[in-house]
This record gives sequence, C-alpha cells and structure tokens, in this order.
Amino acid sequence: MANFLVLNGPNLNLLGTREPSHYGTESLDQIEASLRQLAKQDGAHLAFEQSNAEHLIVDRIHAAATDGTNFIIINPAAFTHTSVAIRDALLAVAIPFIEVHLSNVYKREAFRHKSYFSDVALGVISGLGSVGYEAAFMAGLRYLKSGDKS
Ligand code: DQA
Repeated sequence: MANFLVLNGPNLNLLGTREPSHYGTESLDQIEASLRQLAKQDGAHLAFEQSNAEHLIVDRIHAAATDGTNFIIINPAAFTHTSVAIRDALLAVAIPFIEVHLSNVYKREAFRHKSYFSDVALGVISGLGSVGYEAAFMAGLRYLKSGDKS
C-alpha cells in the first residue's frame, strides 16, 4: 500500500488569502481535498498536515519512520531556506521525498534560491501552483509501484 505523508510548513495555513499573486487563491483545505480524491482513485493512503513550528515538523518526520509512511511530499515553505533540522530529519528516516513549492522560487528573491532540501530530494516541483502537489503524488505513486528505487 502506498502511504503518503504530505507536510506543509509555516504560513501555508493562510493559503487562499496569502499573497495570491504568488500562491494562488486555493486554500490548503482545497488542495488537500483534490489530493484525497486522487489518493482514493489510486487506493493510496494520505496523511496531510501543516505546522508553523519547525520542531513539530521534525517530530512528524520521525513518526513517519514507524507509521508505515513510504513517501513524503513536503512544502517546507520558509523552512526551505533555513532548516538544517528538517533536512537532517528527512535524511535520518531515509523516506524518499519530493519538495514542492507553489511559486517558482527561482523567479523570486535570491534568498529563496537556496534550498536545504533539493540536493537530497527525489525531485523538486516549483511554480506549478497546487498542481505541483498532484504531480508530486503521481510521481510518488509511480516511484513506489516501479521496482526501480535508485
Ligand atoms: C513556498 C516558497 C517559499 O519561499 C515561501 O517561504 C513559502 C512558500 C511556495 O510554496 O512557493 O512560504 O514554499
């Protein structure tokens, strides 16, 4: 069974009203609902969570090591550019993950061009809005179904 953990970092609880020119008008609940629909179609299990606190994200990643999670989709939000702790947690549990950003961080301020995750992620999706989560889910599903885990 494909067990996905979708983790969302700080301020993503404000999606829908937060800087719509960067992040669109969909709320996080709407993004979750679309993903749940996809997961249902594909018989995958989905845990979908958001936190504004770095240590809670670290703790949730640790829990993923023993709760059957076999794929992580993470939008670390601002922690993308700052968090060695979340990077280390992902490396510690060694669960494959895709990094997602709603906005194209490379079109934005230089400080957003640095990610603590991209070099250890299976892949990175940036700039496709909420479709990025769906693309990450499809890619994760294919990854888990294929024998190729390289
Ligand atoms: C973001 C991009 C980050 O730079 C920013 O801090 C966010 C959201 C995105 O989804 O585009 O909060 O991860």
